[in-house]
Parts: sequence; C-alpha cells; structure tokens
Amino acid sequence: MSTLSIENISMRFDLPNGTHVQALKNVSLTLKTGELLSVLGPSGCGKTTLLNILAGFLAPTDGQITLNGHRVTGPDAERGMVFQQGALFEWMNVRDNVSFGPRMKGQRAVEYTKTVNHLLDVVGLGDFKEKAVYELSGGMQQRVALARCLANDPDVILMDEPLGALDALTREKMQGLVLKLWKETGKTIILITHSVEEALLLGERLLVMAPRPGRIHREYRLPFADMGVGQDLRAVKKHPDFASKREEILSMIWDMEEEIMGRTEEAGA
Ligand SMILES: Nc1ncnc2c1ncn2[C@@H]1O[C@H](COP(=O)(O)OP(=O)(O)O)[C@@H](O)[C@H]1O
Ligand SMILES: [Mg+2]
Repeated sequence: MSTLSIENISMRFDLPNGTHVQALKNVSLTLKTGELLSVLGPSGCGKTTLLNILAGFLAPTDGQITLNGHRVTGPDAERGMVFQQGALFEWMNVRDNVSFGPRMKGQRAVEYTKTVNHLLDVVGLGDFKEKAVYELSGGMQQRVALARCLANDPDVILMDEPLGALDALTREKMQGLVLKLWKETGKTIILITHSVEEALLLGERLLVMAPRPGRIHREYRLPFADMGVGQDLRAVKKHPDFASKREEILSMIWDMEEEIMGRTEEAGA
C-alpha cells in the first residue's frame, strides 16, 4: 500500500527585519492511498505553506515528505495542484488546458485524446471543449482545473480552497463533483478550506490546524464524505451528527480566533 508521509515538518520564514515566522512546527501525518483529507484552521496557521511543501514548491526547514517511499524534493506530476482560481492558461481553449500535462510529457493527440475527452465528460464539460477560458463561469473554470489536474494522473491531488471563490449553489455542486471524482479515481486528496461545512463534507479525515506556530490541533474521522457520494449533500447536512460536529468545530475555531485576537491586542498594548 503506497502512502504519503509527512514527517516532522517545520517551516520558518526569516523576515528582512530580522524577525521570523514559524509557519509550521513539527507537523506529522501519514495518508494512505485514496484517503480524502480536509484541512481547516484560522488564517495564517500554515495551511498553504503545508500544501506548498507537499507540492514541492517550498523546501521545509526541517523534516521531510515521502511519497510511495521516495523523498519529495521538488514539483512533480505525481502531485497535482488545484488553486482557488486564475491558474488556467487563458490563451488556450478548454481542451488544450486539459491536455497540457500529457502534451508536456511528449504524448501525441492519439495517445491523450480519449482520456481528455473522458475527463471533460466526467466534469460535465464535454460540450465546451473549444471554449476559451474567459467564456466560462467560475464553476466551469474550476471544473477545467480539476480535469487538467487529473489528466496528469497524479497520485496525490492538492487543493488550496478550490471552491472558495464560487457562489453557494455552484459550490455545493462542485462539492458533489469532488466526492464523485474521489470515489471514481481512488486518488489521495488533500483539500484546504475555510468552510467548516465543506471540511466536514469533504474529509474522511479532518485536520484542524492552530496558528503560531502552525500545527495540528485536532484530527477527526468522519462518515459524511462516504455518506455524500452520489447523494444530495443537503440531506447529509441535515443529519443530526453533522449538525453537532459542525457546532463542536465552529466553537473550537471561535475559541482559537478569540485567543489570537487577545494575543494581538496584548502585543499592541
Ligand atoms: N513566503 C513567506 N515569507 C514570510 N512569511 C510567510 C511566507 N509565506 C507564509 N508566511 C507566513 O506564514 C504563516 C502561514 O501562512 P499560510 O501558510 O499562508 O497560512 P494559511 O494558508 O493557513 O492562511 C503566516 O503568518 C504567513 O504570513
Ligand atoms: Mg492559505
């Protein structure tokens, strides 16, 4: 069984004024292939930093990441990233965006066309292959981003608030799509979100992080992602266990935010 292993990661940013930020401290976590992990936590607790380290965009100051037994030292197609927005190639149409990875690997159209068409069908954009990026709504653009990521057949998909810029209705549809893709592809997925509901819906495991230094605060195992596959997500949200977990986590985050505010006021006094 292959795994993604985060081993005692710390990240310190030294600032030009001589001070530093401890963005992450001693973060450890192991994910099995096919796990769906959501990550929640107040702004500044190191979520994006952790994802950037997993992507290989940043080297941690301590610790290491291994995937399927080898050490992660830089970006690689085995780890795909989906950003919040704006990461598509504006000058390419939908199909060319999705086929970008395979083309970069040197594949010819006969080799990738079937996969690309299939992925565009899966994300509901089969009729939009020739469209330019600017002709698409925000939700459709994120569908393209998901399909483009999957076209590289990564082992791990990293998502940094991928649905954060969408309106509520589109967001809910996309949450359903993420669950569907997770079940159908068996990929390992790590999804960062600001939304407690989304973290509950899109995490078999949910990590709550705390700031200063950024660290793992709590971890939950949740049934809602499995319950939600192919189902009306509103029905899942109405489940009494969902409501009670939402309250529990919301009040935990509230307490954290209050503590941060308190510390900030003390520092300013
Ligand atoms: N390149 C950087 N240089 C200096 N500080 C950084 C850099 N990137 C992130 N930070 C700091 O590290 C902390 C964690 O940031 P980030 O990972 O973006 O948090 P989150 O995504 O949880 O909001 C913040 O205090 C942020 O200001
Ligand atoms: Mg962030």
